[in-house]
Amino acid sequence: MDNLIIFDTTMRDGEQSPGASMTKDEKVRIGKQLEKMRVDVIEAGFAAASPGDFDAIHAVASVIKDSIVCSLARAQVGDIQKAGDAIKPAARGRIHTFIATSPIHMQHKLRMTPDQVLVAAVDAVKFARSLCDDVEFSAEDAVRSDMDFLCRVFEAVIKAGAKTINVPDTVGYSTPELWAERFRTLMERIPNADKVVWSTHCHNDLGMAVANSLAAVKAGARQVECTINGLGERAGNAALEEIVMALRTRKDYFNVETRIDATQIVPASKLVSTITGYPVQPNKAVVGANAFAHESGIHQDGVLKHRETYEIMRAQDVGWHNNRLSLGKLSGRSAFRDRLKTLGIELESEVALNAAFRKFKELADKKQEIFDEDIQALVSDEAVTPEIEQFSLVALTAHTETGEKPFARIVIADHGKEKISEAKGAGPVDATFRALEIIVNSGAELQLYSVNNVTEGTDSQGEVTVRLSRAGRVVNGIGSDTDIVIASAKAYLNALNKMAHGERMNPQMGD
Ligand code: KIV
Ligand code: ZN
Repeated sequence: MDNLIIFDTTMRDGEQSPGASMTKDEKVRIGKQLEKMRVDVIEAGFAAASPGDFDAIHAVASVIKDSIVCSLARAQVGDIQKAGDAIKPAARGRIHTFIATSPIHMQHKLRMTPDQVLVAAVDAVKFARSLCDDVEFSAEDAVRSDMDFLCRVFEAVIKAGAKTINVPDTVGYSTPELWAERFRTLMERIPNADKVVWSTHCHNDLGMAVANSLAAVKAGARQVECTINGLGERAGNAALEEIVMALRTRKDYFNVETRIDATQIVPASKLVSTITGYPVQPNKAVVGANAFAHESGIHQDGVLKHRETYEIMRAQDVGWHNNRLSLGKLSGRSAFRDRLKTLGIELESEVALNAAFRKFKELADKKQEIFDEDIQALVSDEAVTPEIEQFSLVALTAHTETGEKPFARIVIADHGKEKISEAKGAGPVDATFRALEIIVNSGAELQLYSVNNVTEGTDSQGEVTVRLSRAGRVVNGIGSDTDIVIASAKAYLNALNKMAHGERMNPQMGD
């Protein structure tokens, strides 16, 4: 059985999703979870993109011991130097350098001839090797590159010292058969192909990122680049959880093994969703809330008689728990802390634990049964990290009545100072956001508003996502509460807090 390297790029390509930018602390938390899941390579960012991203990669490299920590770098000396410096503290580091090789990118974006691109690629790899033993080279837009040219570039960069050759479908254009064919041709035609690990990196524009990645594995690729929840540019990247579980469930067909501890998949999915403000769609494979739910009577009957009639994986093998928290108003902090631990949630400080515990008690007052999803939602709430908050919700009144214009009155704390305002709107949420804007006058544009119920039933918490943009910066805020107007106000304030937090830059800004 061959080993397959899982290369996670949630914190680099995933971060390129609108509003998904992460702070240094958030990257460290995700990095630790990825290491716990036994990911082989963690691409922690793009060191040259911003000083904040450099620091974040450096911080991840300082704490991760088991996984390789990697930084992306364009094929330029300055970028590569920064990548090398950022990964310096890593027990095992990697520099991942790339340049585009397709005619359309070379002509219109790079304005370079193919020969210039070839020289830049070789120089980049040589320079990266002078800083780090482990160098990966990617030919951006390989999917639309001329095969002869791609072979020339890859042969030359392997000679220059690249140890991994990554073949990206940057625009999500390929199909499984074509992608497998591309790998087979490259490996057959390039004389030194056997000296490197071949890697696949697929985007999901036509919904085939996972299928294309798996086809590449079948054709001989031994590294897959992927992200938690399929996060990534535009329609996203290949989803790590789907790749890992497809390979495991169909080991008979793929005949490859990963090191991944699959029971850490759901905690990783929740953590990434919480930090980036990207909810997971309920019907998402493996990590969606309905992934293991059987609705029809025939299916339920079958599963009760013999689970494997309709289930090809076990929910607990990917980290789902169906425990209800049997804690009530009188339960103590240590039981609550234990439950967080079982769910793979690590709160950074006692302040955060106290805030989460206080919110748990408030929720126990409103809701009879507390599910794991409730706990996950409440720890994702902005109140858990009060030290970085400029704004917080103090009080909210919303009024709706048939035939009347909805109305909201809100009190918020701005740097601890209480401010009050009221407004009317198309609905209670609209009125709340208008009232908030009268106070903060943020100048931000609302790009997205969505509500998901965290569990079933009308007493469920609603989890709200709000995406705001201002002057080219985009942030996602989330908030949860059994009252969705309050959840909406929290999400809006969370987005404003993120906006106010200067460290959270858009990845590759000014690139
Ligand atoms: O999609 C892509 O081509 C990339 C490269 C930088 C690897 O993300
Ligand atoms: Zn990509």
